[in-house]
Amino acid sequence: MGIPVILDCDPGHDDALALLLAAGDDRLDLLGVTTVAGNQTLDKTTRNALRILALAGVTDVPVAAGCERPLVGDLEVAADIHGSTGLDGPELDVPMPPSADVHAVELMRRLVTGSPEPVTLIATGPLTNVAMLLRTHASVLPLIKRIVFMGGSTERGNTTPYGEFNIVTDPEAADIVLRSGLPITMIGLNVTHQARATPSVIAGFRDKGSRIGAICAELMTFFAGTYLRVFGFEDPPVHDPVAVAAVIDPSLVTLIPAPVVVELAGVHTRGATVVDLHGRTGLPANVDVAVGLEVAGFWRLMTSVL
Ligand code: RIB
Ligand code: CA
Repeated sequence: MGIPVILDCDPGHDDALALLLAAGDDRLDLLGVTTVAGNQTLDKTTRNALRILALAGVTDVPVAAGCERPLVGDLEVAADIHGSTGLDGPELDVPMPPSADVHAVELMRRLVTGSPEPVTLIATGPLTNVAMLLRTHASVLPLIKRIVFMGGSTERGNTTPYGEFNIVTDPEAADIVLRSGLPITMIGLNVTHQARATPSVIAGFRDKGSRIGAICAELMTFFAGTYLRVFGFEDPPVHDPVAVAAVIDPSLVTLIPAPVVVELAGVHTRGATVVDLHGRTGLPANVDVAVGLEVAGFWRLMTSVL
């Protein structure tokens, strides 16, 4: 049996790769997928999660839609990066099963309480669903092994100068998670920006000769165009599968325990992750912060499931 995990996501091009990696590697037991508003509206991120799992022929993993807006602020989607569907690029004309008829938080609760061993929550979108789980069902906390999230940065942001999209979208949710007392791993932009889908990576997807590989190559080609236009990146960073890879093979990331807080009140810095890497605050370390990535090993793993 693999490591029991739940993937909470907002597909999103890089979330799509995270989904395929989580569903495709036998070292993980993907108990369920939950979706959250972020890159696009909830209806679109849910549809995209269903379509990617259908594309991969995964029919036994429940998918449940969660929160359709952040806890406090307004939802601002990232259509400039992921397009109007949230997964622009290839035609994904796959039959789409219905999502589960329960809210994501209820599905998370059921899966965590029903698991014979503690569950790892992997979050690759805003942390709204995860925060709602912790606030609605405090009894599940001892049943959660670790929360591994893609978000934040030890350096600068992407959505604001110091704010990364997943955290900026719902800073209060991130604050609830970071103050939960649970074991937490933060996979921030400082490492995910090293996971660039270069032309040779995309060619490697296409050379797999599979339909999934071809679709992923098309997704990355679209993603490359928007990342070049918006951020001036030659090759797009695939943030989310790095969080999944860190659970599959922890040797791929270098972690440092450090105090991490989220700025909630800054006029110019709301949603910034303030990472104290040098013990200046005297606060206790509450997060294992990724500071290094074994890039070639990550791409070998990512490509192995396509
Ligand atoms: O800042 C990058 C993160 O925001 C990724 O998870 C991407 O999919 C978006 O959700
Ligand atoms: Ca995401």
